[in-house]
Amino acid sequence: MSEFLKALPKAELHLHIEGSLEPELMFALAKRNGVELPFATVDEVRAAYDFTDLQSFLDLYYQGMAVLQTPEDFYDLAMDYFRRAVADGVVHVELSFDPQGHLIRDIPLPVPFQGLTRAMREAEETLGLSTALIMSFLRDRSPEEALSVLTAAAPYYHLLSAVGLDSAERDHPPSLFQGVFEKAKALGLPRLAHAGEEGPASYVHEALTLLDVCRIDHGVRCLEDPAVVEELRIRRTPLTVCPLSNVRLKVVETMAEHPLPKLVEAGLVVTINSDDPAYFGGGMLANFTACQTAFGWSNDLFKTLARNALEAAFMTEERRAELL
Ligand code: ADE
Ligand code: ZN
Repeated sequence: MSEFLKALPKAELHLHIEGSLEPELMFALAKRNGVELPFATVDEVRAAYDFTDLQSFLDLYYQGMAVLQTPEDFYDLAMDYFRRAVADGVVHVELSFDPQGHLIRDIPLPVPFQGLTRAMREAEETLGLSTALIMSFLRDRSPEEALSVLTAAAPYYHLLSAVGLDSAERDHPPSLFQGVFEKAKALGLPRLAHAGEEGPASYVHEALTLLDVCRIDHGVRCLEDPAVVEELRIRRTPLTVCPLSNVRLKVVETMAEHPLPKLVEAGLVVTINSDDPAYFGGGMLANFTACQTAFGWSNDLFKTLARNALEAAFMTEERRAELL
């Protein structure tokens, strides 16, 4: 393990907090809440993490959420992750959560908000970590439902740094959510969207032009259309790339074939992130290390990528000046 990569102050901009649920905590919460799991042991859970595509992962990801029932569960989930992130040399975490994944299980909106924001406050005070909260809409559910969640979240707008768009990308283009994102914009909320993970480059273009996003989550398939690459380059829209996720979900076959070097060479604002660290083989340091092993990048390039993330992060200018 590289001491340089560990010590490099890293900001994580693309993390699904529900995807940080390690099997050990999954079992502990299942016991606390009397939830039956379809697995007998931690090893059995890990053995199930053999994905063929995004949907095969999402099936397990939504199933795993069943153990999250109370504000305390969300607090434990986030604190557990924040401690691991700090051990990886992470100084700032932007966590996204999927309220619809909880509402459809009859877990009301205040439950994740209370638990996550308590953990965020505590991490800032006790771990010296800065944090930001992103509320994501599920693109494989209806735009009407997303709009009703956005409306219901009114008491919490002041706690949100942005809204996002995630879940199954194929056949769920950004254009479906234009109205929801227009409302978020009118409310003054910055906007992000997953695009170009499994979906085509045209979804990246739609996210930029119809949803007016300030960052693209993943975006790796932009390379299939030079016009979209140029659009990203001119706008200087950051991409939150998640290399180990892309390998595990078979967006690419191997790290060696990952298009990260091409994205960097194209002059794009690239950042490295973990996505769902419990499911994809590690957190921020594992993702940085995988890039070092696969691409033999210089320390200077890693510094540039870490700086890109700090510049693109939702944080006070005071905190940014402290970290840059
Ligand atoms: N939700 C959690 N992880 C995701 C990913 N990698 N893509 C889309 N939606 C997600
Ligand atoms: Zn993601």
